[in-house]
Amino acid sequence: SILIVDFGSQVTQLIARRVREAGVYSEIAPFNSAAEAFERMQPDGIILSGGPSSVNDEDAPLVPDAFYQAGVPILGICYGQQVMAKQLGGEITSHEMGEFGRAFVDIETTSTLFEGVWSKGERHQVWMSHGDKVTSLAPGFTTVGTSDGAPFAITADEERRFYGIQFHPEVVHTPDGAKLIGNFARHVCGLTGDWSMAEYRATKIAEIREQVGVGPDGGKVICGLSGGVDSSVAAILIHEAIGDQLTCVFVDHGLLRLNEREQVETLFREHYHIPLVVVEAEDRFMAGLAGQTDPEKKRKFIGGEFIAVFEEEAAKLGGADFLAQGTLYPDVIESVSFTGGPSVTIKSHHNVGGLPERMNMALVEPLRELFKDEVRDLGRELGLDDKFVGRHPFPGPGLAIRIPGEVTKERCDILRKADAIYLDEIRNAGLYDAIWQAFAVLLPVKTVGVMGDARTYDSVCALRAVTSTDGMTADIFPFDASFLTGCATRIVNEVKGINRVVYDYTSKPPGTIEWE
Ligand code: XMP
Repeated sequence: SILIVDFGSQVTQLIARRVREAGVYSEIAPFNSAAEAFERMQPDGIILSGGPSSVNDEDAPLVPDAFYQAGVPILGICYGQQVMAKQLGGEITSHEMGEFGRAFVDIETTSTLFEGVWSKGERHQVWMSHGDKVTSLAPGFTTVGTSDGAPFAITADEERRFYGIQFHPEVVHTPDGAKLIGNFARHVCGLTGDWSMAEYRATKIAEIREQVGVGPDGGKVICGLSGGVDSSVAAILIHEAIGDQLTCVFVDHGLLRLNEREQVETLFREHYHIPLVVVEAEDRFMAGLAGQTDPEKKRKFIGGEFIAVFEEEAAKLGGADFLAQGTLYPDVIESVSFTGGPSVTIKSHHNVGGLPERMNMALVEPLRELFKDEVRDLGRELGLDDKFVGRHPFPGPGLAIRIPGEVTKERCDILRKADAIYLDEIRNAGLYDAIWQAFAVLLPVKTVGVMGDARTYDSVCALRAVTSTDGMTADIFPFDASFLTGCATRIVNEVKGINRVVYDYTSKPPGTIEWE
């Protein structure tokens, strides 16, 4: 295994992910508990992450000295390189000329670190982000690569198998970075690369059992299902760990897609036999949404009401000790980096964030280290089919934010039908997986049409489809005109209440993906 020592970099989890991709088990430990982690794991290699500190600060975080004596290979990245250099007798200079963004390294000699990946004399693109840099090597180290801003961009003590790199191999902007990390894990540390999601599953199950406790004295866990991939995978994993100590709650607020509730019921009750409470709350949500046209007020109402319904159900179940959530790593990074500065609220994203404090429950979040595509892998590992794990994201406030203006049951029904036809066409054309998210929007605009020999006066439906990697930015999906014509014809013919269809050509920014 590999121990990753975290010095506070924003991208430490990406290092773990690259190691996982190489088929090697890793654990991340904060620098101040790294010594215990080392004792427990007896790792075959250590990676030191980057971080915001300067090694020349008085209280700079350090690597436990014992790590340098353990005879285990070490790869220091950015701050990790600097702290290793400093602790082993080199020098680091602060804030002369930083290097941020794309840079190039020249490979001066061969090194085990990149054997089979990079060769002497080559020049490679890498991603740099540093103010400090190594200016004098520690005894035993030599330079194996340089860049314009970092004369010691890559350093190595081949005998002790200590490597320091100033650039970040874990980010995609270092095109060969994943290969370099894989090479460190397999070639330098001699690991076989046969770790898989099956083992992640086993490890997490053990952790959940440990956290919650099993048997008559074990804790009770409640999990809010959204019908999406993340909460479903979390619930299935937790159920595997603690069985019926878990109860899932699915709130049907009437803002779901066609047949969504039935799909969740079948999946959980019939397929996985997981205790599931379905709360019929459509009337209550529709009543609260009546007359409401302001997007933020709609969102706030739905978020608040969701929490209220969930709390009531938890009380009916006699309370619970833990709340399970399908929080992913990107949710964690965003919420951390957003606390740093003033950021404008574009939309109040609805999640169950307020719940744990209000209900005084500890969290069980078994997906916190994973990225979306890894959750999909884990879902497949747990027996979910590709169609389910590949589902497009669906927002918490559901169809309410796809019906600008007042939301009514009747308008939800109209939109559900149009949306189902659109997605059906997309699947039939084999385009579903090429699209990040596709959905229909029902506009509060009526236009005149003619059907048969009669005049119609009905609503406009807008179709949206975008590509994206993380939902933060998006491009529109460029359908063929004939595909859109086919969708428009079917929707107008089959859905009473819609007589015109338009396509949304706005990227994000300046648009957002949802309409509200
Ligand atoms: P926007 O509309 O902000 O959406 O460009 C970006 C992504 O987030 C989803 N989204 C939400 N997801 N609760 C969620 O769980 C929400 O309140 C919410 N609002 C937007 C949206 O569907 C897209 O994938």
